[in-house]
Amino acid sequence: MTEEDKMDARGGIGAGPKGSLAGLDIVEEINRLRKERNAIILAHYYQKPEIQDIADFVGDSLELSRKAAETDADVIAFCGVKFMAETAKILSPEKIVILPDMDAGCSLEDSCPPDKFKAFRDEHPDHIALTYINCSAEVKALSDIIVTSSSAEHILSQIPLDQKIIFGPDKHLGAYISKKTGRDMLLWPGVCIVHEAFSETELLKLQAQHPGAPVAAHPECPAYILDHADMVGSTSAILKFAKEFNGDTIIIATEPHIIHQMEKAVPEKNFIGAPGADGNCNCNICPYMALNTMEKLYVALRDLEPRIEMDEQLRLQARQSIDRMMEMASATVGQGDLGPTDLAHED
Ligand code: 13P
Ligand code: SF4
Repeated sequence: MTEEDKMDARGGIGAGPKGSLAGLDIVEEINRLRKERNAIILAHYYQKPEIQDIADFVGDSLELSRKAAETDADVIAFCGVKFMAETAKILSPEKIVILPDMDAGCSLEDSCPPDKFKAFRDEHPDHIALTYINCSAEVKALSDIIVTSSSAEHILSQIPLDQKIIFGPDKHLGAYISKKTGRDMLLWPGVCIVHEAFSETELLKLQAQHPGAPVAAHPECPAYILDHADMVGSTSAILKFAKEFNGDTIIIATEPHIIHQMEKAVPEKNFIGAPGADGNCNCNICPYMALNTMEKLYVALRDLEPRIEMDEQLRLQARQSIDRMMEMASATVGQGDLGPTDLAHED
């Protein structure tokens, strides 16, 4: 590689798409660019280990929103999926928000087209819309209050009991908090393809192989998985539980990349990903999150593309429901994490 090729691949401030990345030390280049750009790298727990390790902050959806709102960086490099990067842009419009791969979507977002959601709302004018953050900016703009898995129950508890509620787009999260709080809600029929892929039969087999090992599950799982869980909570809550539970083996029913943080925090414990129908947890890797790579993160920091852009009217409308979440979730413990005790599954 000639010096010119290296310069070409490295690019500079304002450089456009350049040539081959061969020969580049990607970690060194990301570290150089993050300083030059005054960028913060945010990563979700479902990102590849190398991306989690280079990030300034790794967290669940609520924690990442809070970080995006409070940072004084000029650039937010969001290693997660599009709805998360959009939320960062909605909260920090003056910042450049980049997403390594703009195709990093979400099956829940896809399940809830804004026109159909609006029609559903119009059919139920006496209901408010409590909407999971895993949706498009357009659906946020059509919603009253956004929730995350760590804040949903706490926010629901603040809504008057006689208020009718539409909950979307995740029917499993909606059913879980509905059962836990005893409140009826009209559920939008969306699902997360990753959490839907767990197999009850294989989970029972795994439990038989590891008697006494608790199952920690994300509330995006179907009820037939949650029914076997000892603890149900957001990614942060599952991580906290994994660090604190008394025992050496735990079964994790959520996207398996979170196990990286567990192994770093408590390497002496044994973390087993809950299986899919094929008996292993490979089918539970989120295909959207997996689109982000270190190389794409480097190119995004170099070119400041792909960039989240949003119509200002849409941003302001979507911001209202997110601001309500931020206010109503403010009483959640620590960094927006209700923790295993509060979210523990009760039969
Ligand atoms: P949390 O990290 O907020 O639990 O969300 C999980 C998820 O599926 C994100 O897409
Ligand atoms: Fe969407 Fe599920 Fe992937 Fe989360 S894990 S981004 S909910 S498809």
